[in-house]
Amino acid sequence: MFVNQWNSTLYDRQHAFVWQYGASLLEWLAPQPGEQILDLGCGTGHLTAQIAATGAIAAGMDADPMMIATAQQTYPQINFAIADARNFQVPTPLDAIFSNAALHWIQEPDLVIQCINRSLKPGGRFVAELGGQGNIAMIATALFGALRQLGDEDCDRGYPWYFPSVSDYATRLEQHGLEVRQIVLFDRPTPLADGAAGLSHWLHMFANGILAHLSADERQHVIQQVETALKSVLYRDGTWIADYRRLRVLAWKS
Ligand code: BEZ
Repeated sequence: MFVNQWNSTLYDRQHAFVWQYGASLLEWLAPQPGEQILDLGCGTGHLTAQIAATGAIAAGMDADPMMIATAQQTYPQINFAIADARNFQVPTPLDAIFSNAALHWIQEPDLVIQCINRSLKPGGRFVAELGGQGNIAMIATALFGALRQLGDEDCDRGYPWYFPSVSDYATRLEQHGLEVRQIVLFDRPTPLADGAAGLSHWLHMFANGILAHLSADERQHVIQQVETALKSVLYRDGTWIADYRRLRVLAWKS
């Protein structure tokens, strides 16, 4: 299994689109003053702070210590904690759990959903967006293709992401006692920052676990191969456009 390493400074500097796009998910959450809301996989905490700004009592959890340290430093008035989404506990049941662009990093969705269900009040809601079926299909195909061309058999030892279909995710939610009120899969072509370097920066941030066992030269070679393979389809007017596809869901604890 590949393990991605996070750099919260570069994450905020080069990939702010992750939480900026997530802001529209707050409309699905519709936080109310006084509600207890957990931001699961909160990263550097910007959306947690937007939830708190509505008057809700927001807290953030993330598995990465550097993300949590940055979030806590940026927003000292909010409670942040290092926690594993597959196995977390909350002191009192919550009104809502929110998650943006985090849950596709976890290959055990049932453990996550079980924990979410256990942590919600009856009638509490779960609002999430994650990569859905077909997410970054072109990038992943080019990346694993380039690794195979290099003779890297290791690249088959584990695809690090979970991009569920509507039926897969809705079924799992229902099996664990969550009633699905809305669920939608949609394409969201996503412009990357940093012009011609955008795809390379994206791969360094989000695919570093997959590239970690290569030498620096091999890594550079693979990235160039990916760029060459995708230039005609994902590079327009000096900007790389990642082929993101999102799964957005609103479910209630029965
Ligand atoms: C996503 O947000 O869809 C995503 C980000 C990094 C790697 C894979 C997927």
